[in-house]
Amino acid sequence: MVEAIDLHKDYKIGKVLFPALRGIDIKIENGEFTAIAGPSGSGKTTLLNIIGCLDVPTKGKILIDGTDISELGSKEKAELRKNQIGFVFQTFNLIPVLTAYENVELPLILLDMKTDKREAKIVALLEEVGLGEFINRRPNEMSGGQQQRVAIARALVKDPSMVLADEPTANLDSTTAKEILALMQELNAKHKTTFIFSTHDQLVMDYSRRTVNLRDGRIVEDKTKPRGQG
Ligand SMILES: Nc1ncnc2c1ncn2[C@@H]1O[C@H](COP(=O)(O)OP(=O)(O)O)[C@@H](O)[C@H]1O
Ligand SMILES: [Mg+2]
Repeated sequence: MVEAIDLHKDYKIGKVLFPALRGIDIKIENGEFTAIAGPSGSGKTTLLNIIGCLDVPTKGKILIDGTDISELGSKEKAELRKNQIGFVFQTFNLIPVLTAYENVELPLILLDMKTDKREAKIVALLEEVGLGEFINRRPNEMSGGQQQRVAIARALVKDPSMVLADEPTANLDSTTAKEILALMQELNAKHKTTFIFSTHDQLVMDYSRRTVNLRDGRIVEDKTKPRGQG
């Protein structure tokens, strides 16, 4: 479970402090499929980066499975990220000179997994995301949707407890965006991995079970659909 308690984040621009998060309280249970929604500038990326241990709050706490991450050193935080958290980005962020297979392999190399054990996992996951025939393609030989599938496989290959996706469909046409959302939904159901994604796209909210709406760094609405819908 992820819990934010009175989370604040101020950015310093010259001598001026800009409050990007102004007191966020939220609990996200394991296995949720949750959208952080809101217009550009509302604080979505800031919140995801703090949850993902990529940034630190100015005030307040984040607990991940009960551990206060502000009490972890930078090494421990890097360990937590490496083991527990998968990231998916708006611009896919694959390594251009590596094939789909090699991009997905990287997190497992960082975890010192043996080659033979890696291979079965990578192939199975690339097949699961619908890229069985694209294993040896490089990013520039794939469509945006295919690249995002590789990125999703890369995020999931280490069996993280959560995947954080910052506007994962922003660079995709609406048909492809729907396919990517359906894929994430399917993977969430199957792997029980928590998915937290940010968006300003109505489409994403249609797919999410829970939508947390941000405005100017505050939660203005937090809605969960009943089971069986969305
Ligand atoms: N590194 C930074 N330095 C200064 N201001 C920032 C920085 N990052 C974000 N901001 C500001 O904080 C606010 C929230 O940004 P962000 O979390 O990126 O919002 P969103 O992802 O919802 O578009 C915006 O007004 C943005 O300009
Ligand atoms: Mg953003």
